[in-house]
Amino acid sequence: MLVRKICCIGAGYVGGPTMAVIAKKNPDLKITIVDINKVRINAWNDSDLSKLPIYEPGLAEIVDDTRNKNLFFSTDIDTAIDESEMIFISVNTPTKTYGVGKGMAADLKYIELCARNIAKVAKTDKIVVEKSTLPVRTAEAIKSILHNTGNGIDFKILSNPEFLAEGTAIQDLLNPDRVLIGGESEAAIESLAQIYGTWVPQNKILRTNVWSSELSKLTANAFLAQRVSSINAISELCELTEANIEEVSKAIGMDSRIGPKFLKSSVGFGGSCFQKDILNLVYIARSYNLNQVADYWEQVVIMNNHQKRRFSDRLIKTLYNTVSGKKIGMLGWAFKKDTNDTRESAAIYVADHLLNEQAMISVYDPKVSCSKIQSDLNYLGTRTEAENYEGLTSVDSPYKALNEAHAVAIMTEWDEFKTYDWEKIYSQMKKPAFIFDGRNLLDKSKMSQIGFEYYSIGQ
Ligand code: UDX
Ligand code: UDX
Ligand code: ADP
Repeated sequence: MLVRKICCIGAGYVGGPTMAVIAKKNPDLKITIVDINKVRINAWNDSDLSKLPIYEPGLAEIVDDTRNKNLFFSTDIDTAIDESEMIFISVNTPTKTYGVGKGMAADLKYIELCARNIAKVAKTDKIVVEKSTLPVRTAEAIKSILHNTGNGIDFKILSNPEFLAEGTAIQDLLNPDRVLIGGESEAAIESLAQIYGTWVPQNKILRTNVWSSELSKLTANAFLAQRVSSINAISELCELTEANIEEVSKAIGMDSRIGPKFLKSSVGFGGSCFQKDILNLVYIARSYNLNQVADYWEQVVIMNNHQKRRFSDRLIKTLYNTVSGKKIGMLGWAFKKDTNDTRESAAIYVADHLLNEQAMISVYDPKVSCSKIQSDLNYLGTRTEAENYEGLTSVDSPYKALNEAHAVAIMTEWDEFKTYDWEKIYSQMKKPAFIFDGRNLLDKSKMSQIGFEYYSIGQ
């Protein structure tokens, strides 16, 4: 099928950057990204590029190059579906917060709404591409909804999971390790392969059946998260022995069978994918009665929760077993550097625990807004909004966050944290001045030399 017009439903962290890069590399295609969220679409259309709803290095430049040429952002979902030959579904699939599978299974209501919308509007044949991460065999549900419209339209369904990581989305899209396309129809697969083929070498475009494609996405995230939990488990052992986690990571990573990436010990992984996808995998395994398989993967999340909790417990214990009324300066709120995304960020859970102990928290993050920080905390429902507001403030400078603080907690590995005037910060903090470096970002000997009591992970 010749594809000239593409519609992408969902203008989020996945849909936005992915379509921007496809548009950039395929100037002859017209791509319309649609969303029910009008505020988000307006932000994508803002002439001030610093107002785009997503911060990703390199994204604004590509949007500037393509927007209103062959890339469009709109809330007119039906028109975009109607005129396109290919439709990407890139809406959110959060963990269910109600009913059967609560806290574990993926909530597919947004996906189903999209499928029903496509079924209602379509008048010509379409290729429908699952971009969102989905449980295995979701394509079957989408197919069933689309094929029961009774209007004789032919829908081909493809699974094309996205492997980009936030903060490096544009680089990951421009230079992917692989592009995965799962499907039944060879012609549909080749239509999509051709679009990626304008910049991705054919030998990196992997074709599989739909189910393998869906399961590969969950498995890749589970493996990556597992590496972080594995190294974090060893970090606790390091803290009680003379071993140093940075040395252990380096030593094992040089084994080509293990490899050096994703072995950075931290305060715990966050982000919208890892926990959600593992819980989803666990839920699927249990639904097939594979309890050993489910327990095996669930342990990755249990270990991650332990790591976050351990970080705040250690901080409290070191501050003479109480943080009540003490100012704690938090550097970073995003779940990793170079993104404004805070979903499942370890900072949220650490702050929540410290607030339970009546700490006074002051947060600085270079890209996350004050209102986002407050709403992340409020979402947990641990205390009232007024109480959260009283216990935690966010400020626009790191020096304000750390002035008169008893301790610094580094939550995100932003590069700029390394360049601060740490002597000045030391002079303005209460003594003894503590640093709890949840990212092993700063130079331990330099910090100790300045006079800090410096605690890092696994050392
Ligand atoms: C292992 C380590 O590889 C080596 O570095 C260490 O010094 C000693 O322990 P070894 O036990 O000799 O070496 O063999 P290895 O190739 O690691 O295989 C161990 C077991 O895992 C074998 O039964 C092998 O069949 C199995 N295996 C290995 C798999 O089932 N799948 C794999 O992908 C790899
Ligand atoms: C992840 C996958 O990497 C990506 O392929 C998939 O498409 C979406 O999920 P993302 O969540 O954006 O991407 O970021 P990632 O770089 O994987 O980091 C996830 C979390 O793990 C972050 O909180 C990060 O700080 C943490 N992490 C990562 C570590 O603590 N140590 C590491 O060595 C690597
Ligand atoms: P991701 O990280 O997977 O991209 P986001 O939450 O950033 O997730 O983006 C998903 C987007 O999908 C949101 O902007 C949301 O408004 C949009 N969305 C959800 N359901 C629908 C729907 N039925 N039609 C159109 N857009 C939708």
